[in-house]
Amino acid sequence: MNTILDFLGSDHHACDDLFASAEAAVAQKNWDSAREQFGRFQAAMAHHFTMEETLLFPAFESRTGMSTGPTQVMRMEHAQMRDLLQGMQDAVAAANQNSFLGLSETLNMLMQQHNLKEENMLYPMSDRVLGSERESLIRAMQASGSQDET
Ligand SMILES: [Fe+2]
Ligand SMILES: [Fe+2]
Repeated sequence: MNTILDFLGSDHHACDDLFASAEAAVAQKNWDSAREQFGRFQAAMAHHFTMEETLLFPAFESRTGMSTGPTQVMRMEHAQMRDLLQGMQDAVAAANQNSFLGLSETLNMLMQQHNLKEENMLYPMSDRVLGSERESLIRAMQASGSQDET
C-alpha cells in the first residue's frame, strides 16, 4: 500500500543524500562538482516543496478545514529554507566556502526539524484523513516529477 509517509519520506532521504554530496564537494573546494551537486540538490528541494505546496497541503486543508494550522507553519519554514538555498547558491557561485558552510549548517538543522514534523505528524495525519483520495494524490505527485526534469 502506498502511503504519503513512504513517498514523501523517501524523497526527504533523497534530498538529504544530494545535500551531503554538495556539502562534501564544497568542503573539498571542488567547485565544479559543488556547483553541479548543489544544482541537483536545489532542484530536488524545489520540486519537493512544490509537491507539498500545490498538492498535499491543499488536499489536507480542504479535508480537515485547517488552513491556518500545521500547513501554514510548514509553508513558512519552506520560505526560510528557500532564502537559505538562495544564499547557498550565491556562495557556491562565488566559491565562498565559509559562507556556504555557515548557511548549510543552518539549513540542515532547519530541514531535519521540519522533516521530522512532517514525518511524525503531517504525513501520517494526511494518510489518515485523505482516505480514498490518497492514491490519486500520490500519482499526481509522481507525475509532477517527470515534468520538472524536462
Ligand atoms: Fe515541507
Ligand atoms: Fe517534506
